[in-house]
Amino acid sequence: MPSLTSLLNARFAAALEQAFGADFARRDPVIRSSQFADFQANLALPLAKELKSKPRDIATTIVENLDLEGVCETPEISGPGFINLTFTPEFLASTLSKGGAAAAEQATDPLRIVIDYSAPNVAKEMHVGHLRTTVVGDALARTHEFLGNTVVRQNHIGDWGTPFGMLIEHLLDVGIESETAQEISENPNAFYQAARAKFDSDEDFATRSRARVVSLQGGDAQTLELWTTLVGYSKTYFHRIYSLLGVTLTDDDLAGESTYNDDLAAVCAELEEKGLARISDGALCVFPEGFTGRDGEPLPLIIRKSDGGYGYATTDLAAVRRRVRDLSADRVLYVVGSPQAMHFEMVFSVARAAGWLPEDVKPEHVKIGNVLGDDGKILRTRSGSPLRLAELLEEAIARARTTLQESNAEFTADEEAMVAKIVGIGAVKYADLSVAHDTSYTFDLDRMLAPIGNTAPYLQYAGARIRSILRKADGDAFTAAPIHLGEAAERDLGLAILGFSDVVAEAAAGSAPHRLCTYLFDLAQSFTSFYEQCPVLIADSAEVRDSRLRLSQTVLEVLEAGLGVLGIGVPERM
Ligand code: ARG
Repeated sequence: MPSLTSLLNARFAAALEQAFGADFARRDPVIRSSQFADFQANLALPLAKELKSKPRDIATTIVENLDLEGVCETPEISGPGFINLTFTPEFLASTLSKGGAAAAEQATDPLRIVIDYSAPNVAKEMHVGHLRTTVVGDALARTHEFLGNTVVRQNHIGDWGTPFGMLIEHLLDVGIESETAQEISENPNAFYQAARAKFDSDEDFATRSRARVVSLQGGDAQTLELWTTLVGYSKTYFHRIYSLLGVTLTDDDLAGESTYNDDLAAVCAELEEKGLARISDGALCVFPEGFTGRDGEPLPLIIRKSDGGYGYATTDLAAVRRRVRDLSADRVLYVVGSPQAMHFEMVFSVARAAGWLPEDVKPEHVKIGNVLGDDGKILRTRSGSPLRLAELLEEAIARARTTLQESNAEFTADEEAMVAKIVGIGAVKYADLSVAHDTSYTFDLDRMLAPIGNTAPYLQYAGARIRSILRKADGDAFTAAPIHLGEAAERDLGLAILGFSDVVAEAAAGSAPHRLCTYLFDLAQSFTSFYEQCPVLIADSAEVRDSRLRLSQTVLEVLEAGLGVLGIGVPERM
């Protein structure tokens, strides 16, 4: 359905055109206002200079030309010329009665959005940082698709580079199909650490490993086969985590670092031809404008090391080039940890200078903040080793299960396992999504799983409660009943429901899933106040009862759609 904001903006555009001519129509003045009205338009002040007139007089002229018949009460002009708008309950009620509140306004000009997210490393455990980029990236992908945009998912896994020499040699040592090797698909860290320890202590192994890197880069067939085996084990591991998390990434979305191997020489050659790269201390470097180190010296982006090897930056340059050229991206989102901010700024700057990133394509680093432990430091286990993600998720599920066992709901063992997974995983994902993506937060399972507060279980419980109310209504005749908003609590709830479309658009435009979380939390709270003040099943008349049932059902639809966009389920019962 069309969002409230776009409806009002369209009416303002018509009024501006009528009053001042077509040139003035292209503005979107309307913003939500919680204090004085439902919405507020600030047009008069910005137009005062252009029109050489007093803001309040301009506001009056706009209001005279504004057709909001049947939509809003008479607009009020406040302060220096703000226009306050309040919807009539009849308009809100009839809009809700038409249905479709849980659908977003579809993009008129759908974009192709490439989203780079998750990006774990082969033969390594995914850590909580990867968890967050995975969860946030997936929510953004779903949000854009919900709006009708085309999303191209790119899982830029770390599947290339010098560590693969030692990993392949270790694979040979333990046996390609041995249990130790296959453990990578369960618990990759042990394998990596064993290889690392040998590399550091065994000179012969280190020499073999270095030689192996050379054959790998040289495209030696047998080495490539070993490498493929190693990557395969890791893929199994990634997909196990993705399926546990309910994340939409598949094998088709894998575009690891190695994808770009054949482009790297060309990337360097092109940068040299364009006069952008030069040799410095034996390495081929670009010095993008505006980047200086602490000493004031220009900062290099190294694109070919002095030994001839390419690195992370070269790969990312090749990736931008392909994303624009082959994937036809309008927007590219990089959902990656904040510490890589400088890397991306430099890469984007070089890509622009090289002409690989046209002005109308917007790259954006969606910076992901840290996940901290109780001690305020990056989350680790007590022994100081990085946390095992799978274990963490299993623990969240186990705790959710314990809570379910303590509740009254009588579940079969299967149901209990299913609901515990939806709640446990939902809680962890929601904790990642409900804070701004670039702030850090403390990983605290108790808080994440709390039944009250801005948590997934609170929202899931609100959904389950509405379901239980709807089950008690005999029949579903109410689903076609007209909605009336007689009470203040009903009007508040109706307005809250209709805010969904706007908030999804905002979350997408600003890469800000936390806005959607805040919205859903407020919606659930509005529902609670409504439910406290307005009897539903025992309402005074059948008409009011059906209207309230349908209003409740609409809240459920929005909760489900909203949580769905975030990648979180709502159990039937809990
Ligand atoms: N594999 C990298 C890491 O674990 C993240 C890659 C992010 N994406 C990119 N295009 N550089 O830090």
